[in-house]
Amino acid sequence: MFFMVFAKINTQRLLKSIDELSKIGQKIGGNGVTRRAMSPAEDAAKRWLIGAYEEINIPWREDGAGNIIARYGTDHGAAVATGSHLDSVPNGGHLDGAFGVLAGLEVLRTLKSMNAQLARPIEVIAFTDEEGRFGSMIGSKCMSGGLSKEELLLAEDEKGRLLGEALSERGLSIDSALQAKRAPEEFYCFVELHIEQGPVLDQSHLDLGVVEDIVGIVRWRARFTGEANHAGTTPMHLRKDAFVGLTQFAEKIPTLLKDFGSSAARATIGEVSLEPGYIGVVPASAHFTLDLRDISQSHLNDLHTQLQQHAQMVAEQLDLGFELTPIGELPCTSCDPRITSAIEAVVKKMGKTYIKLPSGATHDALPMSTLCPIGMIFVPSVNGISHSSYEHTEAEHLCLGAQALLETILTLAQGEHCVDKV
Ligand code: HGY
Ligand code: MN
Ligand code: MN
Repeated sequence: MFFMVFAKINTQRLLKSIDELSKIGQKIGGNGVTRRAMSPAEDAAKRWLIGAYEEINIPWREDGAGNIIARYGTDHGAAVATGSHLDSVPNGGHLDGAFGVLAGLEVLRTLKSMNAQLARPIEVIAFTDEEGRFGSMIGSKCMSGGLSKEELLLAEDEKGRLLGEALSERGLSIDSALQAKRAPEEFYCFVELHIEQGPVLDQSHLDLGVVEDIVGIVRWRARFTGEANHAGTTPMHLRKDAFVGLTQFAEKIPTLLKDFGSSAARATIGEVSLEPGYIGVVPASAHFTLDLRDISQSHLNDLHTQLQQHAQMVAEQLDLGFELTPIGELPCTSCDPRITSAIEAVVKKMGKTYIKLPSGATHDALPMSTLCPIGMIFVPSVNGISHSSYEHTEAEHLCLGAQALLETILTLAQGEHCVDKV
């Protein structure tokens, strides 16, 4: 375990990589990073990462779903895996996902430079479409076998672009995506390093977070349908205005969350479009997305039921139609105490301040939890901001997080560590 003492990431190299990758998908003149899944920007980010692996002769491969997987050590045996995602939300931050992938790259660079001989192989995985252009977590769900062929065939983005089309542009297919499924015995565990994307660590002036639980999520694409009509001649009481349906649905959400959710319940209507969408026409249809989360599965289930019933009731009262298409669901998930205790021991040994906390964001660790024990390490997000060009983490915390990841991986990759005996 000698290198446990001397294993140190190269902070300048890490920060330089973060800066370089942040430029891919960043529009000149600001407003964040746009690196949508299976877009030229995400393709370029993957090429950058592959170049970095080839520079240090680390074997890598792209699986049938478009995930980029690098491996250090033997090509057999259950791997200690880490990673995150390179895709972003539109006009998002440069750290969400990318930080976890680049910290994984830095771990491999450090292990390679030390010629570290470990009892277990290490994998760094850059998952595609974590942000849900085509639903949510396509890459990690394909790896964990969480999507059926039917779901993959139906998956489309907000413009109706099919996942299958985007895959085939990259030499992949729905069938190859299904073949990305891996077996539980291929993994010893999965540890994801991520920015908190919330205010807890920053407001408490803590260095790191050890994640205990991750929220479950339910996502819809839905619409209220009414009748297009003349904005001037149609009396208000004779209208079938789809937008009024959406507003009456939306205005009751805070009450439903208070009555049926836990304190961690969140609901977001992030996308809205009206048809025909013209100033002089009563909207015939109101398309919208719903992103619903809670840390407690029973509360999430209740909220989901209540919101569906509420939408139906609004539609009946206003003589509108209502339909929804589920586009992504993941259950509330707990990190494995056998992994979180290893993370906690590392953070204590580093002498850094930390707290155990839930994650209000979902992560690739969620689907990976169906394959192996998972853990997550958080670094503070300044002012708790994320999914925004104002997303920021201090360099000191980025480096601390990567060092904690390195030491956690070294702990878990030792033969003495055995999840069956911890
Ligand atoms: O939305 C989320 O929680 C994550 O960033 N995909
Ligand atoms: Mn995100
Ligand atoms: Mn993320």
